[in-house]
Amino acid sequence: TGAQHGSDSPTTDLTRSAFLLAARGEPVPHTPIWFMRQAGRSLPEYRAIREGTTMLESCMRPDLVVEITLQPVRRYGVDAAIFFSDIVLPLKAVGVDLEIKPGVGPVVAQPVRSADDLDAIRPVTPADVSYVTESVQELVRQLGGTPLIGFAGAPFTVASYLVEGGPSKDHAKTKALMHGDPELWHALADRLADVAIAYLSVQVEAGASAIQLFDSWAGALSPRDYTEFVLPHSAKVFDALSTYGVPRVHFGVNTGELLPLMSAAGADVVGVDWRVPLDEAVRRITADGSAAKPVQGNLDPALLFAGEGPLVAEIERILAEGKAAPGHIFNLGHGVPPNADPDVLLKVVQTVHAKSAR
Ligand code: CP3
Repeated sequence: TGAQHGSDSPTTDLTRSAFLLAARGEPVPHTPIWFMRQAGRSLPEYRAIREGTTMLESCMRPDLVVEITLQPVRRYGVDAAIFFSDIVLPLKAVGVDLEIKPGVGPVVAQPVRSADDLDAIRPVTPADVSYVTESVQELVRQLGGTPLIGFAGAPFTVASYLVEGGPSKDHAKTKALMHGDPELWHALADRLADVAIAYLSVQVEAGASAIQLFDSWAGALSPRDYTEFVLPHSAKVFDALSTYGVPRVHFGVNTGELLPLMSAAGADVVGVDWRVPLDEAVRRITADGSAAKPVQGNLDPALLFAGEGPLVAEIERILAEGKAAPGHIFNLGHGVPPNADPDVLLKVVQTVHAKSAR
């Protein structure tokens, strides 16, 4: 995937990227690491540059997107950058009336209640998000040998915001819609699959080297409901992206019971939260005879506040358990908490690199 960006200088050579090698299950110089939500409020330089600009406005400004995406790469020396955006950005881009409330999350003015409400939800075209193409192209140029991960929200997690009208703990309205009006549910989820496909395609065509589909809240579902109402739609996304040949990561929180299904949906790399050890995650993914695949995770973000001794011990345990998989990408089990200490995150990166050096 690096070739299209020119291999004029060794620093733009992505073929030796530890992240991409691990994602393909190939030998690595060290275990690669990045953090979900590595860009954001835990960084003073992020809080400074975001002052006076709303979250969604900043996602539409290439100067801010490029700078914010690069901030954690500079500070931590992580093995991948993640594009600075949000899972609801493509909906905003096609005119869905929503905002991201600080400290709350996405809030939707008119929650989806009927088939008429689906009209507003259409896939983004490259013209709708020219700022995304511009930002990704500039990032790929500046990142050189560090890969850029593009991302989108999975149909279920994005649907939850649209149906609930905002963040939800139990996703009760979304589940009621699934079971009460399956036809409307599947129509909504199919549209959101098309949104994710379009948004991810824009990022990959502009130069992103990998993609992650965030189904953060899928863990609220039983395996049965996941199989019937969610898996086909997420599988459609992964299948559509397969033409690009970039590694596809699938992540959700509290998905211990869903790991084999989320793997089967079409992921090349399965994201694991802190509740299931990585070797046990591999056992679950392969229990039905499926081939093992690379995993990503899974340090409990709470350990960032536990002090150096316990933190290093946990990192060692996770590195050891990660050896059960054909590839391991170190990450937190969920996003960086806003009150995390950047110096502790730097220590995590240095520890993972030092302890895993081959
Ligand atoms: O560094 C990165 O990981 C890239 C940036 C990123 C953001 N959102 C920026 C952001 C990514 C990958 C996301 C994805 C996202 N957005 C998810 C999936 C990941 C996850 O955490 O499970 C979800 C569920 C959302 C929806 C959303 N957007 C939430 C729950 C929030 C937090 C609200 C808050 O203020 O606590 C947002 C806002 C948001 N997205 C922020 C950032 C940096 C914080 C807004 C701010 O800084 O003002």
